Amino acid sequence: MTAGLSSEWTPESERLVSARFTPDDMDIDRSLRPKRIVDYLGQSKVKESLGVLIEAAAGRNEPLDHVLLSGPPGLGKTTLAGVIANELGVTMKTTSGPAIERAGDLAAILTNLEERDVLFIDEIHRLNRQVEEVLYPAMEDFTLDVVIGKGPAARSLRLDVPRFTLVGATTRTGLLTAPLRDRFGMSFRLDYYAPDELEAIVKRSAAILAVGIDEEGAAEIARRSRGTPRLANRLLKRVRDFAQVRHDGRISEDVAAEALAFFEVDHLGLDKMDVRILETLIVKFSGNPVGLNTLASAVSEEAETLEDVYEPFLLQLGFLNRTPKGRVATPRAYEHLGMTPPPGTSAGLF
Ligand SMILES: Nc1ncnc2c1ncn2[C@@H]1O[C@H](COP(=O)(O)OP(=O)(O)OP(=O)(O)O)[C@@H](O)[C@H]1O
Ligand SMILES: [Mg+2]
Repeated sequence: MTAGLSSEWTPESERLVSARFTPDDMDIDRSLRPKRIVDYLGQSKVKESLGVLIEAAAGRNEPLDHVLLSGPPGLGKTTLAGVIANELGVTMKTTSGPAIERAGDLAAILTNLEERDVLFIDEIHRLNRQVEEVLYPAMEDFTLDVVIGKGPAARSLRLDVPRFTLVGATTRTGLLTAPLRDRFGMSFRLDYYAPDELEAIVKRSAAILAVGIDEEGAAEIARRSRGTPRLANRLLKRVRDFAQVRHDGRISEDVAAEALAFFEVDHLGLDKMDVRILETLIVKFSGNPVGLNTLASAVSEEAETLEDVYEPFLLQLGFLNRTPKGRVATPRAYEHLGMTPPPGTSAGLF
């Protein structure tokens, strides 16, 4: 092991600051997930557009156009799908790309919908090709082609399905096939939340959980939440536990900062794994560009996880650059780790 690198390794799924869903988040989802658009904080542009479209569809008594929601984990795609259904006053049926194995499974789901229902397909980029082909006419004309019988006696039958709204969610729009993408009437990309939006989310959640928190305490948690509501809620719960055991239960700025230091989340929301990635680039590879696969194996993580989970936040902070030659740590990353950027790097250019 190279000197200076953190030696401990925690799998992505067990990190406190993982934006991905963990079983621990189940009760957070149940109690804190906004149901109506007024409780869905931030993402104002998306909400504004959706609000208009929902009202228009409802006014015409028509189903809402199919909606594609994309963005990194934990930013509120599933939540927004539920909000859409609630605002339309319809039922939402939920499934996911990998759960629909055969065309017949999808046919069964579609024929069981009620008029104007929302069908939510999570991880829609993971639908298989046969299933996708059944979905096309259903999305376009609300029809379903089914084949009855086998061999020469087989015949094809066209069925009507209720006019529904498909809400698809994906963390990776790039993986969606073009014909599927084209069949969505609208597509919204959720972006990382601003600190003041996260602060509002922390305050709302604290009120629901009946936790005492002041403005600065909420701001401190928000700052370390990596732009992600799921994380803001998770950190709030951990800080609440810490405040209860080590203090009087109230969350102030100092208590929040002490708690998050205790849980090894630094003041920007980085944890040991993020630091390890940066240290690997800086120390092990001496600041030279490193290919994704090389970097992944150096930090014992899968390339896909590195790309989907770790890098977006480091890129957003301006700590990492993806260059044609590979990944490099920026001068800002050196500074954050208390190191001096090597001479000759384009300090100040990032
Ligand atoms: N705009 C918001 N306002 C308030 N809370 C939110 C908002 N968006 C998300 N949350 C909270 O964050 C949690 C995670 O959101 P959600 O499960 O919808 O994310 P997701 O984008 O579907 O993530 P994944 O990609 O992992 O499926 C929810 O339980 C909810 O409480
Ligand atoms: Mg989701």
